[in-house]
Amino acid sequence: MGFSEATRARLSVTPLDSEPDARECAQLMASSEPWITLGRSFETALSIVRDPSREVYLARDESGVAGFLIVCMTGAFVGYIQTVFIAPRCRSQGLGSRLVEFAEERILRVSPNIFMCVSSFNHGARRLYERLGYSVVGELTDYLVQGHSEILLRKTIGPIMGPAVTR
Ligand SMILES: CC(C)(COP(=O)(O)OP(=O)(O)OC[C@H]1O[C@@H](n2cnc3c(N)ncnc32)[C@H](O)[C@@H]1OP(=O)(O)O)[C@@H](O)C(=O)NCCC(=O)NCCS
Repeated sequence: MGFSEATRARLSVTPLDSEPDARECAQLMASSEPWITLGRSFETALSIVRDPSREVYLARDESGVAGFLIVCMTGAFVGYIQTVFIAPRCRSQGLGSRLVEFAEERILRVSPNIFMCVSSFNHGARRLYERLGYSVVGELTDYLVQGHSEILLRKTIGPIMGPAVTR
């Protein structure tokens, strides 16, 4: 059964702030595609969700973690959505779209660009992101593992410097 619009809107999205939640996120990540194919262990996943240079947000329902989001606001691509994960029991009910929207609101407060990568074999996620307005801007071949690319996606509301001034 899917979440109703009202339930989806009520699900709280809050910063990750506890070690048990970090471990649950890492466990979920390490046991799901695309990270199984990408060879991500529980320990690596845990170090990613604990990375203090990232912002991690959780969506919860009455059963626990329904999904999480990792956003990077520093480095070459400011406004990079590093991870979107929805628990298998909650997928295809609009929650992934809601978390991406949450990330976009966060990023657009400081930058007009939102970046993310999707693995070349993750056709479902790529379909979703293209539906949400993301365009392919590059392909990083053999980037995380041999034989698969990471597809770089971007959504923008305008140039960083604003419109050019003509005299
Ligand atoms: C991709 C994902 C975040 C989407 O969240 P969601 O709540 O299922 O998404 P929504 O309900 O808003 O949208 C549904 C769309 O998500 C995509 N999707 C659904 N299940 C998916 C899955 N298991 N893997 C990849 N994409 C999936 C499809 O495009 C689907 O649209 P469709 O019904 O027309 O095929 C979620 O399915 C997930 O966590 N998948 C596993 C991890 C993953 O691939 N994360 C993205 C890494 S870039």
